[in-house]
Amino acid sequence: MTRQTRMLNAYTPGAGHLSAQDEALAARRAQTLGPAYRLFYETPVHLVRGQGVTLYDPDGIAYLDCYNNVASVGHCHPRVVQAMTAQAAILATHTRYLHDGILTYAERLLSMFPAELSHVMFTCTGSEANDLALRIARAATGGTGIIVTDNAYHGVTLATAEMSMSIGPAVAPGPMVFPIPAPSAQNYPQGIAEGFAAAVTQACDRMAEQGIKPALLIVDTIFSSDGVYPDPAGFLAPAAAAIRKAGGLFLADEVQPGFGRTGSQFWGFQRHDLIPDMVSMGKPMGNGYPLAGLVLRPETIAEFGANARYFNTFGGNAVAAAVGLAVLDVIRDEALQQNVATVGTAFADGLRALSQRHEALGETRAAGLFIGQTILTDGKPDAARTARLVNALRANRILISSTGAKGDSLKLRPPLPFSLANVDQVLTTLDRLLPTL
Ligand SMILES: Cc1ncc(COP(=O)(O)O)c(C=O)c1O
Repeated sequence: MTRQTRMLNAYTPGAGHLSAQDEALAARRAQTLGPAYRLFYETPVHLVRGQGVTLYDPDGIAYLDCYNNVASVGHCHPRVVQAMTAQAAILATHTRYLHDGILTYAERLLSMFPAELSHVMFTCTGSEANDLALRIARAATGGTGIIVTDNAYHGVTLATAEMSMSIGPAVAPGPMVFPIPAPSAQNYPQGIAEGFAAAVTQACDRMAEQGIKPALLIVDTIFSSDGVYPDPAGFLAPAAAAIRKAGGLFLADEVQPGFGRTGSQFWGFQRHDLIPDMVSMGKPMGNGYPLAGLVLRPETIAEFGANARYFNTFGGNAVAAAVGLAVLDVIRDEALQQNVATVGTAFADGLRALSQRHEALGETRAAGLFIGQTILTDGKPDAARTARLVNALRANRILISSTGAKGDSLKLRPPLPFSLANVDQVLTTLDRLLPTL
């Protein structure tokens, strides 16, 4: 399978319309951070402050954040900041001492899962959680083969980068990695559920031909970098059954859809009426504090636990636990999941209504406040037009980005307190901009 290079939402040095101050900052960045970093947008945004769903530049100009899923309960949420600073002022140490905080948080987090998933291990990043999951899967299954979707992103460590096809041709997929097409109607015209499960079985057959035993099927349960594919609800269950039948495990990567973002459920996998063997989490878990983890079944960790010990210097430290608990409290007390369900539906409905007037708006794929919106020209997906739209919105102080193997869809993924007024601002701006692009 070829690895496609998609049109990235990235700044090209020398292009764009930067102020002298920002030009100097970008040059200093290149000088110090080196060539592997990228900035968003043709004209990068310089941010100094964030609050709720708003980000501010040095001149105090406000940008509507329609993209960031890390500051998920709102930028710099006062309750989260208070929990972080209060705990940091008392004790900030690791998990090799007895401490109530990590257990209170672990119990609370596990209460958000089906009873079968009853252990949690803490890491600092989603990459680490997926990397750990792979080690555990190898121990539990005796296998090594990994199935991923063909524009997935699962992390930055060697093992997870090699199973992240979206990074592009610069990182060769690992020899144990077997990519399958993303669950779109185009890829599986006969039916997504049956087709995707059959693709899993075929990948296991290809492994068998090479003498490889399957260890893991890992999917981001909203398929965010593949282009956002939430529907039809339930389609993942046969794929999870297929990998288990072949002796492997099913890992739900909830780094993107977890923590209420899909509205009707707290976790993306719940949309598909299945219980994974492992669930990895990150980004919104700490609302900006590096907090991530892996939830699993006792039988999945039994072999690994008997032979290996686990310690992560910063993962699950006392401050992380206090922050994680505050995030769950805010989601509950501010009824954010309910807000997502209402506002997300209005957002998707609004985009579909707008598509009646604008030929550029193709399919809207949405679950809660996670939306993929295909952009067309003459009825065909158009990555260049998508990029123009992303940059035009940025010029109009709305921050979003693009997604999909070719970059031909908008990715709309705002913090969870996004309001109907915020949706209106995006739709009105799109209505005005679309005829000009
Ligand atoms: C689906 C998914 N999994 C894993 C990761 C890796 O998480 P982190 O950047 O915290 O290592 C990401 C990051 O973008 C992601 O989107």
